[in-house]
Amino acid sequence: MNLNHVIESQQFTLPKIKELFERTELMKKIVARGGTKDYENKIMANLFYKPSTRTRFSFASAMYRLGGKVMTTEQAGEFSSEVEGEKLEDTIRIIAHYSDVIVLRHVEEGGAERAASVSTVPIINAGDGSGGQHPTQALLDLYTIYSECNTLDGMSVAFIGALDTGRTVRSLAYLLSKYDRTKLYFIAPDEMQIKPDILEYLDKRNVSYELANTTKGIVNRVDVIYQTRINQNRLKSKKIDLSVYNIDSDVLKVMKNDAIIMHPLPRSVEISHEVDSDHRAKYFRQSENGIYVRMALLTMLFDN
Ligand code: CP
Repeated sequence: MNLNHVIESQQFTLPKIKELFERTELMKKIVARGGTKDYENKIMANLFYKPSTRTRFSFASAMYRLGGKVMTTEQAGEFSSEVEGEKLEDTIRIIAHYSDVIVLRHVEEGGAERAASVSTVPIINAGDGSGGQHPTQALLDLYTIYSECNTLDGMSVAFIGALDTGRTVRSLAYLLSKYDRTKLYFIAPDEMQIKPDILEYLDKRNVSYELANTTKGIVNRVDVIYQTRINQNRLKSKKIDLSVYNIDSDVLKVMKNDAIIMHPLPRSVEISHEVDSDHRAKYFRQSENGIYVRMALLTMLFDN
């Protein structure tokens, strides 16, 4: 499989993930020595219709570290010709003439696929809609698990939060399903549980999973706690106390010593700041890995 557009995490075969991780190791070394000029003739367009800190900046940083150039708009709905009624497809056709790759965060689920259908340069989905995917986040998440736990087989992972709208959870579940003896726990209030399409996919691949409303009895035995945001405003029943989903010193006490805590960030209150200094807190390392993995991914697209 040659990489062209990066729309959903299911696209990535095990050999491609292996190649990506080998390149990621190389990128760490390249960044440590100040970057390269190997891709100085390449231009990346960052086209973001929704807010972003990590994805937008890390893609830009990745491109600069490769020697390339970056064009960006962070409020494309306001600062692109969409305000004049231009459709996404026309915007993409135009920007594809000015760049070698387009990184797109779009408001609609399926926005990246629409862009890819007309683009003459690779489209990278940097998050589509509220229940779509965020494949590059999932790749850096997978790399973080691999680099921290030294394996991807036999991993038990607890996803916590508003899982129905969790793009990163959806994308990572697809990737983890490729590995042997994966066990997934989806922990959320019923109204925010993971959507059936993911469970159907896991069923087809005979991946073991459980749905739960509580972290109790689960966070003490998993290898990875993957925390995400839960917005109180979305709850129909105000009686549900969302603080029961928080990761705090009580969770630290029961977690395995070699387990890790991840979060795609930004966080709100769902991980207490007292957790940050614990050796198992890996969410800042995880966001740092975004630079190396995204550099690796860009080189795979450019070297195609
Ligand atoms: N993890 C993530 O996508 O963060 P941003 O929204 O800041 O890009």
